[in-house]
Amino acid sequence: MKTLEEAKQYIQSHIKDIPETAIILGSGLGHIAEVLTESVVIPYKEIPGFPVSTAPGHASQLIIGKLSGVPVILFKGRFHLYEGYRMEQIAFPIRCLKLLGCKTLFLTNAAGGVNREFTPGDLMVICDHINMTGQNPLIGKNYDTLGPRFPDLSYLYSPSLRALAHASAQELGLSLKEGVYAWMTGPSFETPAEINMVRNNGGDAVGMSTVPEAITAAHSGMQVLGISCISNMAAGVLDQPITENEVMEIGKMVAQNFGKLIEKIVKHI
Ligand code: HPA
Repeated sequence: MKTLEEAKQYIQSHIKDIPETAIILGSGLGHIAEVLTESVVIPYKEIPGFPVSTAPGHASQLIIGKLSGVPVILFKGRFHLYEGYRMEQIAFPIRCLKLLGCKTLFLTNAAGGVNREFTPGDLMVICDHINMTGQNPLIGKNYDTLGPRFPDLSYLYSPSLRALAHASAQELGLSLKEGVYAWMTGPSFETPAEINMVRNNGGDAVGMSTVPEAITAAHSGMQVLGISCISNMAAGVLDQPITENEVMEIGKMVAQNFGKLIEKIVKHI
């Protein structure tokens, strides 16, 4: 907790007013940060206790600024299990947000489409998740000051924020799917058999992020919204291998629409 407090104070020393909304940008979505105005950039490596992201397509900067006039705190670069981080390290920046007074966490990611009705480039609001990793960011000592030992996750992905996301997409004339996100450790993409298992168990998309941040945020009483960009069809759906390149390329292609949607949602939060 000492380092958390230090991280909080370090961030506070750079900005007067802490935004109520934080956004985590997924793979290939980093340039959404470019539309922020009045930004203050803090490299993760300067913040006490913050991990530094090593994943491709992820920078390592906290950017505080305005998105269409709305103050936001943006994570350009996130931390994944496959990079070798401990769960506690992945939880750290989220707990820090809570201490800073953030109320809403908006998570974005690139994900593989499991639902055969999806196509690459689709955007999907996460309505629920399946944790396939056997890990949980809350394992270990409970921080009673942040939240309970056994937090309820029945409404983890805020129903009102999901409704807001749909209304915003409609205003923009964008199609927005909804579905269940299955969290895998990676870094290998899944096997076709694993994807069939996920589909048979109600999963619509797979990815290697988002869930630990969502659980940590929910634990401390923040409201959570998650949107996936379907960057590729998951293993075995199409008769072709998955490449890291397509994940990045689709991210770049949809970035403009995704960016517009994020802006619209943030305005209404
Ligand atoms: N599987 C897991 N994670 C991913 C994928 C995928 O197919 N695409 C983007 N992130």
